Amino acid sequence: MAKTLYERLGGADGIARLVEDAVDAHLSNPVVKTRCENTKDIEHAKKMSREFFCAGAGGPETYTGRDMLAAHRGMNISEQEYVAVVDDILGAMDKNNLGADEKKDVLAILYSLKGDIIRV
Ligand code: HEM
Repeated sequence: MAKTLYERLGGADGIARLVEDAVDAHLSNPVVKTRCENTKDIEHAKKMSREFFCAGAGGPETYTGRDMLAAHRGMNISEQEYVAVVDDILGAMDKNNLGADEKKDVLAILYSLKGDIIRV
């Protein structure tokens, strides 16, 4: 049977590395650096992001955080910030030697969420 996206991303360990690298990238990305630095509990946000990606990619984990609309409501996130975050995630995938098929699949998921994140 075809491998799930979760398996192709390296399971929970692979996704944990992606989250670390994406957050590191946000912290040195001038477009989203300040928002990231001002997040009160970054460890909690990382844990939620790990769960979110694991569950969304077909892993056995349960996502215990808020839905994307509730999590981002009132932040007035711009299109530019959204693209910056997506670019950081794709960059983290490059850093972890993931392939074009995996990047396409992740991009499709991220794109499907934009209406719940940008200017909500
Ligand atoms: C691109 C797709 C995105 C995904 C999949 C995503 C995912 C998540 C997840 C899973 C959480 C945790 C929710 C919770 O704690 O219940 C979260 C929180 C957060 N997100 Fe996003 N996010 C995205 C884009 C963005 C963008 C573009 C920004 C702003 C530049 C942003 C800023 C934040 C902040 C500041 C928090 C922490 C909120 C808090 O401290 O309560 N996110 N996000």
